[in-house]
Order: sequence, then C-alpha cells, then structure tokens
Amino acid sequence: MDGEIVVAHLTDPHLDLGSPRGAEFLSKRALSWLNWKRKRRRIQSPALCRMIVDDIHARSPDLIAMTGDLVNFALEEEFRRGRDWLERLGPPERVAAVPGNHEALAPGMADRLATAWGPYLAGDDGQPGFPWRRELGPITVVGISTAVATPPFFATGTVGPAQLARLDAMLGAIAAEGRFALVLIHHPPTPITVWRKRLTDGPAVCACIARHGAGLVLHGHTHKPELSWIDSPAGRIPVLGAPSASWKPGPKRDGAAWRCLRLSADARGWRLTMEERAATEDGIVARTPLEFVLPAPAGRDARAPLVSAEPADRMPRNAAGPRP
Ligand SMILES: [Fe+2]
Repeated sequence: MDGEIVVAHLTDPHLDLGSPRGAEFLSKRALSWLNWKRKRRRIQSPALCRMIVDDIHARSPDLIAMTGDLVNFALEEEFRRGRDWLERLGPPERVAAVPGNHEALAPGMADRLATAWGPYLAGDDGQPGFPWRRELGPITVVGISTAVATPPFFATGTVGPAQLARLDAMLGAIAAEGRFALVLIHHPPTPITVWRKRLTDGPAVCACIARHGAGLVLHGHTHKPELSWIDSPAGRIPVLGAPSASWKPGPKRDGAAWRCLRLSADARGWRLTMEERAATEDGIVARTPLEFVLPAPAGRDARAPLVSAEPADRMPRNAAGPRP
C-alpha cells in the first residue's frame, strides 16, 4: 500500500430488499413506505447500482467506504439481505460502513443492525460502537454514526455527547500520532442541508474535526455532489458528499455515481484526486477529476500547504454553501 491509496466512496443506494408488513407499519415506516411506493421506487435503479459495483471492483480499491442508507425501512429482513449485499461488495477488511437515517427509521434497531452487519460497521478492534477507527497504511479511517430515530417528516441525524467525547479523544490521538484522518459520516456536518434533514450537533462535530485537523470528510444523505469546507488551524478540510449509488438521472436529479479517491503524500503534504464516475444507460461516464491539497495532520506539520487547489465552482452542482 506504499504510494497511492485508492478509496471508493459510494452512498445511499437505498436497495429494494424488503417492505414492511403487519405491525412493522406501526411506526414512521408507514410514511416512508408510502413515499417509496409513490416516488422513490420509480427513481431507483438496481441495474445502475450493479454497474457502479462492477466499476468499483474493476478498480480494485484499497477500501470501499459506504456512508449509509443502504436500506429503506430498517427491517430485519433488509439488514439480513443487506449483509449479503455487503459480502458481495467485498470482505469486511475492504469495506467500511457507517449507518444512515434509514438504518434507524424505527427506534431500537441499532443493536440489530450491529449484529447483522458486524465487522462492516466496526473498526480494527472488531468491537461494535462508534466512532471506530481502522488503519489503512498511513491513513486512519474514522467512522461516525449519526443514525437516530426521528419524528415523522424529519431526517435529522445526531452524533450525541457521548460519541462526541469519544471522537474528540480519537481524533486527538490520531493527530498526535501524525496520521492522516479520513472521516466517514452519513449526514454532512456542515450546514448544507435543509433544517429538517440537518445534523443537529453539526457545529460541535465541525469544531471537533477542526480542533484536531482531520484531512478529509466523506458523507452521503443529500444524494447530490457536494463540496463544503471545515476551516481548521491546519487549513481548510474538504467535506465531500457523493450522489446516490442507484438513482436514475432526471431533470432535477443527479444520477447514480461513485467517487474514486486517490490519496498520496509527498514532501509538501497530502494530495487527493477525486474522479466521479456516473452510471448511465450508455455505460460509465467519468467526470473531470478534481485535485486537492489537503491539510497535514495537526500533530506533524501544521505549516504544510493547506488550501484546496480547485475552486468550488468546478464542482458539478451544489458546490458550496447552504441551500434554502
Ligand atoms: Fe438517502
């Protein structure tokens, strides 16, 4: 793994793996199921999602990062079939996942999810719980859970004070070790979503990441290409969101895509080349790669060159800043 490290980022596939029955409707699942039947099912494409998985496999990444919403209704059947899907995606040493709001659509499902997906949702120590950390050469991958059950019409996420305290200690240790931190989280911590879909403690999470100087944050949730930033003493940290891995493209909708992230370090610091690869009826279409110079680990050299090499307006859409 010397030299370049390749991370595949896919998110929000919302796989069609089961529907609620009987008493399973007695929750927010009923609303979500109606939305799925009326709208979402028609814009999901298993075929596009399969193209994306095949394209990822063809590139043999060092790690596949899945940032949540693999399922729709947080049903045990979906968790079980979701585990089968994850196993086809790759072994747990090569696939790291964090849960999304749809994995927590009904209360009390967190333990069942942890049992079903096991090592895919865990760090190198194999223990359930968040945040977790995994070592990937000189990179430490950190997984955060924002998945909490919410009232109808809300899709917010929350990290919570206990997890935030553990995250603070973990990012502090990673910075002291001089390692590059790559953070995986479902909800964007920056204020780029509508209020009812926000990360409720996003400002505290951003402050924690800024304090210790992570190198890069990857998220899902918005189903759009996103670029926002966390300002830290070591420089601006890119916060990159990917489109859904299964949506059909439409006039107001980004189609299915994944991101191929190539990370490398030289004497000047860490660099990232990000190529978005979209699945279309004509095959995979690669968009022009974006290049970034990333903040150095805070514990090693806070004076390294720090600011993104590319302006946000090169992003396809929704590049930066809050949306209404
Ligand atoms: Fe989603």
